[in-house]
Amino acid sequence: MNILNLVRKNILEMKPYSSARDEFKGEADIYLDANENPYPSYYNRYPDPLQKKVKEALAPLKETTPENIFLGNGSDEAIDLLIRSFCEPHQDSILILEPTYGMYTVCANVNAVSVQAVSLTKSFDIDLEATLKAIDSTTRIIFVCSPNNPSGNSLNRQSILQLLEQFSGLVVVDEAYIDFAESASFIALLNKYDNLVILQTFSKAWGLAGLRLGMCYASSDIITILNKVKYPYNINIQTQRLALQALDNSLRKDIEVKQLIRERKKLMSALIELPLVRKVFNSEANFILVQVQDAKAAYQYLLHKGIIVRDRSSVLHCENCLRITVGTPEENQRLLATLKEI
Ligand SMILES: Cc1ncc(COP(=O)(O)O)c(C=O)c1O
Repeated sequence: MNILNLVRKNILEMKPYSSARDEFKGEADIYLDANENPYPSYYNRYPDPLQKKVKEALAPLKETTPENIFLGNGSDEAIDLLIRSFCEPHQDSILILEPTYGMYTVCANVNAVSVQAVSLTKSFDIDLEATLKAIDSTTRIIFVCSPNNPSGNSLNRQSILQLLEQFSGLVVVDEAYIDFAESASFIALLNKYDNLVILQTFSKAWGLAGLRLGMCYASSDIITILNKVKYPYNINIQTQRLALQALDNSLRKDIEVKQLIRERKKLMSALIELPLVRKVFNSEANFILVQVQDAKAAYQYLLHKGIIVRDRSSVLHCENCLRITVGTPEENQRLLATLKEI
């Protein structure tokens, strides 16, 4: 399969914007090519449009190459660009596995692309037969969120592999929470499947949600398309600098992830002991889905005590469920003590 056959025709044929920094990439003494203000400050120059240094630092960590990496303003940017580049408005569809992260549908709606929704099973795993059956001639992208938001579990690896084998469009595996999971990333399979796309982010394990930096890993053909469609300078100078600093000190991330996983385990065991808790779903993420007697009442009580969780009751298979992010040990203790009062 030639992946370029999946790209929208107008995108394939268009000429991308060529910025000053695209046209001259070396080092020079005097830059009079980009209409910048010459007086030095941290920010008087445009950033590197292709974020070469960040990708060079990230690639070895992920055992891939810079050509297989796209960086976006959050992984949300990559979700939007994938839909915009591969789905013809008013014609094509994406397929999602519900309940899942809400932005796939929002980006599809913005781009006038239809959404085919297939339910996950009650234990939040892929219903492979129903998913394969739902694919039709309009389906261009399947979004698979693993570990899944809001359920927290990793989806069955064999089922994802089956989708990659049997579906000729893109399979996007959203690994926003992969650092908290036991299951391995799909990045290692990039050379095997040219329809595989992986999303990760600096917003969760790396502790940099405020920076807005997301990663997309795919074949160099797909990455070239995303770079063609993105805004020229989508990642600002400060974000690139701070991402490099974070990558240089990935030990900090590793320590925090270990601590959060320990806390998740403690929190799960403590939650199940509470009288109001009916079920604690297994989590491989930095949050836990918990079914309680009355989610609305529990939410309101926590709110009243200054603790905000997410009420997911209205979502498929999540009746009376709260989604609780794992906090610091002190925050988790306060959450538990407050829940005990209910
Ligand atoms: C599954 C999933 N994917 C992507 C994102 C968005 O991440 P970013 O902050 O990189 O846009 C989130 C954020 O909550 C998420 O839960």
